[in-house]
Amino acid sequence: LPKDIFPGRKNSAGIDLADPLVRDPLLKRLHNLRDRQWEASPTFKAEIPGEIAPITAPFDHGLRIGTRRDASAEEVDMAITKAEAIQPGWNALGGEKRAALLEAAADEFEAHTDEILSLCQLEAGKTIVDSVLELREAVDFLRYYATEARRLFAEPTPLPGPTGEENYLKLAGRGVFATISPWNFPLAIFIGPAAAALAAGNTVVAKPAEQTPLIAALAVKLCHDAGIPEEVFQLLPGAGEVGQLITSDTRIAGVSFTGSTQTAHAINRSLAARDGSIATLIAETGGQNAMIVDSTALPEQVTRDVIASAFQSAGQRCSAQRVLYIQEDVYDEMVTMIRGAFQALVVGDPTEFATDVGPVIDHDAQAALERHVARSATIGRTIWRADDDPAFARGSFVLPTIIEIEGIGHLQRENFGPVLHIAKFKNKDLEKVVDDINALGYGLTCGLHSRVEATRRLVESKIKVGNFYVNRNQIGAVVESQPFGGEGLSGTGPKAGGPHYVARFATERVVTVDT
Ligand code: SER
Repeated sequence: LPKDIFPGRKNSAGIDLADPLVRDPLLKRLHNLRDRQWEASPTFKAEIPGEIAPITAPFDHGLRIGTRRDASAEEVDMAITKAEAIQPGWNALGGEKRAALLEAAADEFEAHTDEILSLCQLEAGKTIVDSVLELREAVDFLRYYATEARRLFAEPTPLPGPTGEENYLKLAGRGVFATISPWNFPLAIFIGPAAAALAAGNTVVAKPAEQTPLIAALAVKLCHDAGIPEEVFQLLPGAGEVGQLITSDTRIAGVSFTGSTQTAHAINRSLAARDGSIATLIAETGGQNAMIVDSTALPEQVTRDVIASAFQSAGQRCSAQRVLYIQEDVYDEMVTMIRGAFQALVVGDPTEFATDVGPVIDHDAQAALERHVARSATIGRTIWRADDDPAFARGSFVLPTIIEIEGIGHLQRENFGPVLHIAKFKNKDLEKVVDDINALGYGLTCGLHSRVEATRRLVESKIKVGNFYVNRNQIGAVVESQPFGGEGLSGTGPKAGGPHYVARFATERVVTVDT
């Protein structure tokens, strides 16, 4: 690539898993890390400890990988007090110095590749391919938001105009930001919002998902090792009650949340019920993401992209495909091909290199998905499932599933796992298909496979989603090139990994000087 495509920054190169000389020693090292025990606890501890919970591997709940020590009310209070006290100093450090610390953290992450990949596999049940992608995205967020800190916080922006005065605008941190992050990207979406908040001059109290606190604890430690002060970036592990303690504290100036639409509403209500300053909420929530395939699409390409979009990461991406609309002229042929590829998926232990689809995160997620499949069966839908295996009983597995449906009106809630719904449409009804997708109210990703320019223009102009993908899969947005995030029930924006993200974490101040 010419050097100036990404001036001053390169996306992470990742690891070439196709090369056995790289892959085999890596897998051996990861195997040797399997027995290690990890711990997540609040950065600053009070005398009376909070509850302790075991963390087990989602593919084998008999395999204990560490413990989570929840933050007590006293520890939440202490964390916010310390974060508030140090925030002016962190803000005064300036964009350049904060950027250098975030870049040092990215280097630390890469230097601890093995531990990070091991925890992605053991704690979150990710395949090795997904684990490498997770680390890459985390490193990309750190480095991209570092370049944003330099760009946005270097010099005030002059505001020329007719007033005859000197006017300029500058950005500053809002105060203490809370980040509440999900288990499906336990590193990338843990560190992304935190890095953006830090880049903007805020201090951060971070509550990771209760299922995946261990990798978050490692991430916070690596940031401290890189030189970010402990008071500036603190960990507060726990379940929903800890999140409630944090968001109801009036000293919290803003919250970044990624997770379900229902929880985003609950946080919004909690923030609205507080007195005092009005907090910013940045929410990235779910999707009911569709792909539309017409008769001009290339069947092999569609098959590959549907399998990746619906079943990679066991369907546990907010971008994942939940609905596939196929034009009726090619429906039978396309479904036959997709079912063939789907039957070839290897489901199982994600620490095995051959595995394509690992477990879902826990038994609650598994039960919710199974209830949906069972309900679909009772109303007479045709359902295809991958083959079962007695070994799956050790973990929380959901067999990849395809459900044939006629319309999508009943799909009000996201089914967060390897479950795909397939429907047929007539080409003359294309606009109605887009209207039906929009009517669900989500707006995250949409895919289209078509070689007809007018079809692309029609769907592009009508579909209300944050990320529209044409003739490719609909997952895996790349930091800076494909800023990610949705609208409606899918979130507030701004888009992660995009040019407006860091600024949303900052407050704007204008200075006017009469000369
Ligand atoms: N950012 C992820 C993707 O694009 C989803 O959360 O797949």
